[in-house]
Amino acid sequence: MIEFILNDQTIRTRQPASMTLLDFIRYEQHLTGTKIGCREGDCGACTLLIGKEHNGQLHYESMTSCITPLGNVAGKHVVSVEGVNSEDLNPVQQAMVDSGGTQCGFCTVGFVMSLCGYCLTTDNPTREGAISAIDGNICRCTGYKSIEKAASDIATQLRGIKREDQINWLVDRGFLPDYFQTIPDRLLELKTPDIPENGKVVIGGGTDLYVQKHDDLAETEEVQLVFDKPEWNNIRREGDQIVIGASATATGMMESEVMQEAFPNLYRHMKLVSSTQIRNMGTVAGNFVNASPIGDLTAFFIALNSTIELAGSNGKKRQLLLKDFYKGYKELDKQPEEQVSTIRFPVPDEHTRFNFEKVSKRTYLDIASVNTAIRIRVVDGVINEIHLSAGGVGPTPKYLGQTCEFLTGKSLFADHLAEAEEIIQAEISPISDVRGSEIYKRTLLRQLFYAHFAELYPGVIENGVQA
Ligand SMILES: Cc1cc2nc3c(=O)[nH]c(=O)nc-3n(C[C@H](O)[C@H](O)[C@H](O)COP(=O)(O)OP(=O)(O)OC[C@H]3O[C@@H](n4cnc5c(N)ncnc54)[C@H](O)[C@@H]3O)c2cc1C
Ligand code: FES
Ligand code: FES
Repeated sequence: MIEFILNDQTIRTRQPASMTLLDFIRYEQHLTGTKIGCREGDCGACTLLIGKEHNGQLHYESMTSCITPLGNVAGKHVVSVEGVNSEDLNPVQQAMVDSGGTQCGFCTVGFVMSLCGYCLTTDNPTREGAISAIDGNICRCTGYKSIEKAASDIATQLRGIKREDQINWLVDRGFLPDYFQTIPDRLLELKTPDIPENGKVVIGGGTDLYVQKHDDLAETEEVQLVFDKPEWNNIRREGDQIVIGASATATGMMESEVMQEAFPNLYRHMKLVSSTQIRNMGTVAGNFVNASPIGDLTAFFIALNSTIELAGSNGKKRQLLLKDFYKGYKELDKQPEEQVSTIRFPVPDEHTRFNFEKVSKRTYLDIASVNTAIRIRVVDGVINEIHLSAGGVGPTPKYLGQTCEFLTGKSLFADHLAEAEEIIQAEISPISDVRGSEIYKRTLLRQLFYAHFAELYPGVIENGVQA
């Protein structure tokens, strides 16, 4: 039995935990305000808000319901457009009307839900922040400028909002119906989620699996849902290591103080990964195990010299470097019953710098043509330790081991970088495909390799001298 609150109504259902939330909402509950577009997480037409108790507070996130397993909302508050409607248009809906932000209207509900999600999460409303909240919504007929204008107007109307009293503030001003104020107490009355834990197919956020196998998954009982496994959700510091639970999301990392402290550019880097909705759903372990050669989080964590812990069904645990996890195209050093439980890496010290670069056809909501990350430690102008990763340049996420070996112990000098770049070209084996020709990908990685140094040590590239 799965229990959750849908808008103002408590739901108890025996539908399979693997059914998509979208199908449940439209076909079981007949709430047809939520639209079906791509069914691949790409267009945002099916966006819902999911509220979860966190540290004594209700925390809402937008998600694409077409690739969310029903079981992932057990114990939570699910909000569709019917749940934010009131007698009049709410200020978000009104802003869309006033700025001419809708024509055929097919995408509009998704935009409204993403913007309502922004209202529920921001304590520092800005035009940029509101526009950023709709980075996972696509409109085919209205110009984006009018939708951006609506987002900007909403940000203006949110001035003065306070994190501590967010829901009351929004209810008082008509952004939300007043039943929202009853949700925290009503969530406490729900039974502890009873979700499958022993099935063969492990599902995190579902953002890769449901795109690949939607029909197979929708009705199977054979799933194991790990998205809300409490011990796999936290991000903490343990001595000189940062430890990340397998089910942490990109959003979880962006919001983590431990991660913000270690990575000053974290927000900028993570914004390059998918969209707000997908960052709220996709897990770190899902990115690793999906084993795409262009996984962004994989490139990010390989360069951090991360170690993953694999937990077997018999309670046996083993650790290995993430870079050694990949054996061939979609081939992993992992037994079928093993699950990734944690990721850990050394906290960067004051001599260490980190950078992530990605080139894709669109700046946001697109997978990479080529991506790369670097972790580098330089003491007195000499490279003391370096780890470089690259994606999209071979059958697996690539650790550029020979290049790192060459650069270790070298002074930070432009000529050394030129020599290193030749080694990179020998280490990689890109193929021509829809994301670009072989030569294009080789050129991209070359440029991104230099971009790391331009970003981290501008003097080296500009003057060709030691930093
Ligand atoms: C619209 C869209 C945009 C995207 N954009 C990007 C992008 O820009 N960059 C990018 O890198 N990716 C992108 N992705 C891919 C995807 O979101 C990520 O790979 C995400 O991190 C996958 O995590 P998940 O939890 O959703 O995986 P799931 O789909 O739940 O699982 C993926 C695989 O991992 C396995 N798995 C999950 N958790 C565990 C575990 N703890 N132990 C063992 N196995 C496990 C599953 O069995 C499955 O084989 C995008 C996806 C979509 C739909
Ligand atoms: S239908 Fe397109 S994101 Fe769900
Ligand atoms: S208004 Fe038609 S798709 Fe956006």
